[in-house]
Amino acid sequence: MLRRSFGLKEYFTGFFLTGFFFVFPALASANTDKLGEQLVKDQCSTCHKFTGIPESRFNLKGPDLMWGGSKFKRPWLIDWLTGKEPNIYLKGYRWDLERKVQPHVILSDEGANSVADYFEKHLLDSSAKKDAIDLSHFTELQAAFGRQLFIDHSCSGCHQIMDDEKTMGGPQSATFFNSGKRLNKDWILRFNSMPPDFVPHSGEFVADVSELGLHYVTGFLATEGDDEFKFYEPWKSNHFSNTDSNRGRTIYKEYCMQCHGAKGEGDGPAASGLEPRPAIHAKMAMDQFPLDYLYNVVYYGGKAVGKSPYMPYWGLTLGEQGVADVIAFMQEEFKGDTNASVNEPASTQKSSGVCPEKRTTRKVSFKYSGKKNPLTPSPAHLKAGETLYQKNARPMACRLCHGKKGDGKGPGGAGINPAPRNFTCSATMKSISDGQLFGIIKEGSPGTAMPAFKNLKDKEIWQLIHYIRQFNK
Ligand code: HEC
Ligand code: HEC
Ligand code: HEC
Ligand code: HEC
Repeated sequence: MLRRSFGLKEYFTGFFLTGFFFVFPALASANTDKLGEQLVKDQCSTCHKFTGIPESRFNLKGPDLMWGGSKFKRPWLIDWLTGKEPNIYLKGYRWDLERKVQPHVILSDEGANSVADYFEKHLLDSSAKKDAIDLSHFTELQAAFGRQLFIDHSCSGCHQIMDDEKTMGGPQSATFFNSGKRLNKDWILRFNSMPPDFVPHSGEFVADVSELGLHYVTGFLATEGDDEFKFYEPWKSNHFSNTDSNRGRTIYKEYCMQCHGAKGEGDGPAASGLEPRPAIHAKMAMDQFPLDYLYNVVYYGGKAVGKSPYMPYWGLTLGEQGVADVIAFMQEEFKGDTNASVNEPASTQKSSGVCPEKRTTRKVSFKYSGKKNPLTPSPAHLKAGETLYQKNARPMACRLCHGKKGDGKGPGGAGINPAPRNFTCSATMKSISDGQLFGIIKEGSPGTAMPAFKNLKDKEIWQLIHYIRQFNK
C-alpha cells in the first residue's frame, strides 16, 4: 500500500497551467492528448505494454494495458493514477521474483486526466463489445449467486474478496474487493469468456460455468464494492402492476398443485416422502409476506432463500410475469385461514406461543456451540437487533414468524410445524446457549421453516441475540 510521488505533479501544474490552457481553450484538448501520449511514452512504457500481443506475466513488469480504455472505469483510473487507490496485487505483481509491493507512479490530476483521455481514445479493445452484458435487470440475489459460483469455482483460490469484513482467498492475482469500481462490465465479460486471450501462460484459469453462471459471476464482479449500482427489484416492476390472478390460478394448477395440493394444503401427489413437507399455503396469510420474499422463493427456489431445494426455482419456466401472476393468485386465495384442515395428526401438531415448549432442535456444530456473545447489550446494539428482527433481515424479517413481541405468533408462523420458537418463554430460552442461537440463525434448522440467514454479518447475529433475549426479561 506504499506509494511515492515522482514529483510529476509539481512539474506539470507548474509548466502547463501557467496561462497556456486557459487563454486558448480550443488548443487545450489537442494538448491534453499530446500530454497523455507523452506521459504514456515517457513514464509508463518502461513497465506497461500499450501495443502488440499479450504476454505472460513472467515477462512483464506491469499488467498489459493494450485494452486499458475498455478495461477501467474512469473515476477509478484517475484515483489510481493520482495515488488514491490501494494496490491490486497484494504480493506485488512480479510474484515470480521479489514478491514485494512496489510503489506506483503518481501523476497530477491533469496528467491523470490526459492519460485517461488517451486510454479512451487509443486503447479500446474491439473484442469487448459495448453493452455485451446487460445488468439493468441484475438483482441482489443474482449477485449472491455469482459470489457463490466465484467461491465454488476456485476463483477465490487466486483472487481475494471480502467475506463478512474479513478477506477471503489467496492473494496470487488481482484483488476484487472493489472490482465494480475498477473494471467495466463488458470487459469483465470478455475476460471471463476466455482469460488466456489476455494473460497467456500466467497461471490463469479457465472455468466450466454455464452461460447463466457466467452472467452471474460477471455481474457479481461488476457490482462488487460499487455503492452506486442500483440492483433491479422485480417486485417493483410493471409485471406486478399488471398481474392477472386468473392466469395465476392456471399456473398454480399446472405447476404448484402437484406438491402444494389442490387447495394449498401441502398434500399434492408429489408431496409424499418430502421432508421438509411442501408449505401449507392454506395456512399462510400470503398478503402479510413481503413481496420480495415471495418473489425470490418462487423465482429462485427454496435454496436461494435458505429453505429446502425441494422447492424448485420457477423463474426459467414461468418468467417474471408468470411468477407475479401466481403470487397475485396466492395472495387472493390464501389468507391464513385457521379453519383449514391440517394434514398432520393432531398429536404431532405444536401450536405457537406455548410455554414451556417441546423443543427438538438439533444441537449446532462444535464450531458454534462454544461461542459467547462478544457485544454488550448496549442501546445501540439492541436498536440494531430490533431493526433487523422487525424489518430488515432477509430472506424474511424474524417478526413474520416469531411475532412482533417474540411470542412465536407471527403471521407466517401459524401453519408451521414445528412452531417458531417462543422467545418470551424463559423456561425454554434460559437453557439455550448463545452459541446454539448463533448456529441456528446462521445455518437454519434443517427440516423446519427456520431459514439460514447466511447473509447476516456475525455482528448482526449477535445484535439479534441480544434483542431476542430481552423478550423474556
Ligand atoms: C515501475 C514500473 C511501472 C511504471 C513506470 C508504471 N506502472 Fe502502472 N503498474 C505497475 C505495476 C507493477 C502495477 C500493478 C500494481 C499493483 O497492484 O501492485 C501497475 C498497475 C497499473 C494499472 C492498473 C492495472 C490493472 O490491471 O488493474 C494502471 C491503469 C497503470 N498501472 C497505469 C500506469 C500508467 C498510466 C503509468 C504511467 C504514468 C504507469 N502505470 C507507470 C508498474 C508500473
Ligand atoms: C490459479 C489462479 C487463478 C484462478 C483459480 C482464477 N484466476 Fe482469475 N486471474 C489469474 C491470473 C494469473 C490473472 C491475470 C492477472 C495476473 O497476472 O494476475 C487473472 C485475472 C483475472 C481477471 C482480470 C482482472 C484484472 O484486474 O486484470 C478476472 C476478471 C478474473 N481473473 C476472474 C476470475 C474468475 C471469475 C475466476 C473463477 C472462475 C478466476 N479468475 C480464477 C489467476 C487465477
Ligand atoms: C416438488 C415440489 C414442489 C413444487 C412443484 C412446488 N413447491 Fe413450493 N415448496 C415446496 C417445499 C418442499 C417447500 C417448503 C420448503 C421448506 O420449508 O424448506 C415449498 C415452499 C414454498 C413457499 C414458501 C412458503 C414459506 O413457508 O415460506 C412458497 C411461497 C411456494 N413454495 C410456492 C410455490 C409455487 C408458487 C409453486 C408453483 C409455481 C410451487 N411452490 C411448487 C415444494 C414444491
Ligand atoms: C419462516 C419462519 C421463520 C422466520 C422468518 C424466522 N424463524 Fe426462527 N424459527 C422458526 C422455526 C419454525 C423455529 C423452530 C425450529 C426448530 O424447532 O428447530 C425457529 C427457531 C429459531 C431459534 C431457536 C433455535 C434453538 O436452538 O432453539 C432462533 C434463535 C431463531 N429461530 C431466530 C430467528 C431469527 C433471529 C430470525 C430472523 C433473523 C428468525 N428466527 C426468522 C421460524 C422462523
